[in-house]
Amino acid sequence: MDCDRPHSDETNMSVALEKSATPDNLVIQSRNKHYSDAQFENRYWMGGDPYATAFFNALSVTFPKGETFFIETLKKYSNRVPPKLKGEIRAFIQQEAVHSREHDCFNEKLEASNYDISRLEAAIGDVMDSIRDMSPINHLVATMCIEHITAILAAEVISNPIHFADADKGQRRLWLWHASEEIEHKGVAYDTWLHATRDWSPVRRWLIRSTFMARISLGFVKNRTKGILDLLAQDGYTGARARWGLFRYALVGPALLRRIFRPWMQFFKPGFHPWDIDDRHLIQLAESKYEAAIMDSETNRLEPVESSKPDQQDRLKKVA
Ligand SMILES: [Fe+2]
Ligand SMILES: [Fe+2]
Repeated sequence: MDCDRPHSDETNMSVALEKSATPDNLVIQSRNKHYSDAQFENRYWMGGDPYATAFFNALSVTFPKGETFFIETLKKYSNRVPPKLKGEIRAFIQQEAVHSREHDCFNEKLEASNYDISRLEAAIGDVMDSIRDMSPINHLVATMCIEHITAILAAEVISNPIHFADADKGQRRLWLWHASEEIEHKGVAYDTWLHATRDWSPVRRWLIRSTFMARISLGFVKNRTKGILDLLAQDGYTGARARWGLFRYALVGPALLRRIFRPWMQFFKPGFHPWDIDDRHLIQLAESKYEAAIMDSETNRLEPVESSKPDQQDRLKKVA
């Protein structure tokens, strides 16, 4: 499907989003935060852990190019969607533009710390260019899949204080702010996809998005692993030691990747929508005094809740 093709049924747009679970009262807003002053207090700013630090450093390198691509993609659809979604796309673009700006600053600090990030930047550039060679609808499905991965990582790092408990304060604020806005706009690319594919059968939709998610996830794991090992090697962590340290970080200790496996799998459910899980309480948590949350929540880990459950505020009170 070509996104530039004019649609004859644009007056019937409200019907197209009937499967969206995006909350009616969701407000997406760019907080336009600045973290350029936050220097690394420690080279391994994730509590002295070189593996956790390399994981997030490598992730940061992907953001400016990745988010620029997401912006380009959704911009193309913004005049072809219902007014509410158009406003959400505008807010999505504002948020992602600020994320790119702040991660550009973060990445400059990596370079100032004598990390050579050029190979990581080239790798993400190649991936984005290979997706750009595809059709516009594939740009959209790729964006929607990567946004899901970003949103579940975001929910995990906010809901589980173990991840950033010992991180430099300034960097923790940067990452939790970014994570909170990723949760807030997690349905925008998906709703745009729902609208753009409104003439497709559910089976075709499911097949395309599931195939893309499998491919994108494999590429994500492969390319991030390569990038993380590159950064670790620059600090002298090489071979089996580096691989074991990364494996332990991602799957055994804090286990960031293992913990997002279940929400990742939910994407493959027929009829899935990112807002089937209403985790807006995590946005509030990230904006609250997170230090207080960490002190109190080691035994009260927040879990995302089903959108119909009424106890979100109670759970928030337990940790905030
Ligand atoms: Fe972002
Ligand atoms: Fe995003």
